[in-house]
Amino acid sequence: MSLSLRQFRAEDRSRVAEIEAASFPDPWPDSFFKYIWGKAPELFVVAEEGGEILGYVVGELREIMFSGLSHRSKMGHILNIAVDVSRRGRGVGTRLMTEIEGRFREGGASQVTLEVRESNSTARSFYQGLGFSEIGRVRESNSTARSFYQGLGFSEIGRVRAYYPNEDAIIMGKALEGR
Ligand SMILES: CC(C)(COP(=O)(O)OP(=O)(O)OC[C@H]1O[C@@H](n2cnc3c(N)ncnc32)[C@H](O)[C@@H]1OP(=O)(O)O)[C@@H](O)C(=O)NCCC(=O)NCCS
Repeated sequence: MSLSLRQFRAEDRSRVAEIEAASFPDPWPDSFFKYIWGKAPELFVVAEEGGEILGYVVGELREIMFSGLSHRSKMGHILNIAVDVSRRGRGVGTRLMTEIEGRFREGGASQVTLEVRESNSTARSFYQGLGFSEIGRVRESNSTARSFYQGLGFSEIGRVRAYYPNEDAIIMGKALEGR
């Protein structure tokens, strides 16, 4: 059976949630998928085979700004990617990345970036194999600052995946060919 790639549809929701829950210790809530889908539906892509969703990738296009000025240049950013545990190692992730990179290019991006947990060696090799290299690091979130804000009455109302609470995020990137 052949694998096809298409934009996410509302009826894919429960299957995506299932793959997400099996793939991450801190899965995105459904509301987050919905929000991102609403912002850029063409950048939420699923891989399907025989009517079953095997994986998905979620991206966004960001304008590159310097000193508050847009340089008419865009960057694609991978927000999330996961493949069903039992379907990994068969090229599904690679197909999803190739598809979203094409969509980033069509949207005017000249480069693509992402963040990955330092300990996620599988994903890091996966991205390296796709031509990404390490371009930076986001330090683990600072617990002193967190206690400080909590003492002032702040409470946690959400989480940015890039700033993992107990380990560094590696920032990886590559130039998109053909622009
Ligand atoms: C990362 C992930 C999306 C890769 O998807 P996949 O469909 O298994 O990837 P592919 O089959 O296309 O693999 C392509 C290449 O990646 C590398 N790779 C994939 N799995 C690997 C593993 N377990 N160990 C080392 N390298 C691996 C290999 O170089 C592989 O090429 P090869 O098959 O010729 O050896 C998948 O492992 C996954 O869903 N992981 C959990 C979620 C996650 O960590 N997402 C990334 C968050 S930043």
